[in-house]
Amino acid sequence: MGNYLVTGGTGQIGAFLCEELVNAGHRVVCYDFKPNMDNVGRLANRLTVEAADVTDPTDLLHTIKENSVDHIIHLAALVLLDSIKHPARAYNVNIIGTNNVMEAARLLDVKKVVFASSVSVYGSLNPRRAGIADEDDIPNPPHDPYSTSKITNELMGKYYRESYGMDVTCMRITAAWGPGRYWGYTGQFNEFIRRAALGQDVPFPPDFSYRLEKLRWMYVKDVGYCFSFVSELPRRDYLYNLGVMSPFNHKDVIESLSEILSGRKFEVKELDAPTTVSSGVAGPNGLDVDCTKLHNQLGFRPRFGLKSALDDMVRFERGKAGIPPNA
Ligand SMILES: NC(=O)c1ccc[n+]([C@@H]2O[C@H](COP(=O)([O-])OP(=O)(O)OC[C@H]3O[C@@H](n4cnc5c(N)ncnc54)[C@H](O)[C@@H]3O)[C@@H](O)[C@H]2O)c1
Repeated sequence: MGNYLVTGGTGQIGAFLCEELVNAGHRVVCYDFKPNMDNVGRLANRLTVEAADVTDPTDLLHTIKENSVDHIIHLAALVLLDSIKHPARAYNVNIIGTNNVMEAARLLDVKKVVFASSVSVYGSLNPRRAGIADEDDIPNPPHDPYSTSKITNELMGKYYRESYGMDVTCMRITAAWGPGRYWGYTGQFNEFIRRAALGQDVPFPPDFSYRLEKLRWMYVKDVGYCFSFVSELPRRDYLYNLGVMSPFNHKDVIESLSEILSGRKFEVKELDAPTTVSSGVAGPNGLDVDCTKLHNQLGFRPRFGLKSALDDMVRFERGKAGIPPNA
């Protein structure tokens, strides 16, 4: 069994990843600047939560050494909207923090590092194949601190892998949707489903209402599972797009949610163009992302489809609010 360090481990993806890892019998240190115990409280006593900062290299080295860490999954970051609001902090956490992780892994001979990038690096790419971008397309990120820090990290990870022979894998995430984060860009989508599950009125977010969008977003429990799955593989390729095989859109979401919620109606105002913020994000802006490599080369199989995932989230949110699942 492995000794894992998960940075950003109490965040939306981190919490479900940690659950996956402890269920598989691994020892997990969850390394998070501002631990969100709402997300990992259910794992109490099954992992160690350390309130710590990836921008502090000494602390990182110490924690890795003390815990004989052999696997790092690096998720800590300021996400899109927070990065735009706090650019200096975003560059520091996202770039310097990632470099601290790479350096610590190099100096202490950590066996494997898997880290999170984002399809925001594609920006308004003109892909080589009509309408779909794969791992070999050369990203063209918008200039915001989030997307530029992610592209820097992708190049940085490749450097450490090629120059030092380290086993570093980059997962370029389409989006992880589901419980755990109800703010920020994709968080609006989660908040919509959470409130719908609790019977509240809530408009569908315009950021995800573009007529031609193609969402290959994966349910967050499957994203956690995916990081755990990839971390256990022997060294393979460097970079994988992480998303589902069948894209969906707002209409598919509303249709399935309505079936789950006994025919409840939701209003969506379909847009003829993506919103300003979505115009730079592959998926919501209509640019499709090829995720076949993850599924075909690595053999990853998500456990949820769109409808079963929506059903799971409705139950999860109702359970948390003390409402019976079929109310
Ligand atoms: N959720 C998505 O849809 C999505 C999409 C693409 C990429 N990603 C990437 O996946 C990773 C995880 O995303 P998430 O949605 O779980 O984010 P999140 O915001 O829910 O979690 C990030 C966690 O990192 C922690 N953190 C922030 N600064 C830190 C620091 N200096 N030191 C230690 N911890 C720190 C935060 O406290 C938070 O718990 C991020 O790198 C993100 O960019 C996520």
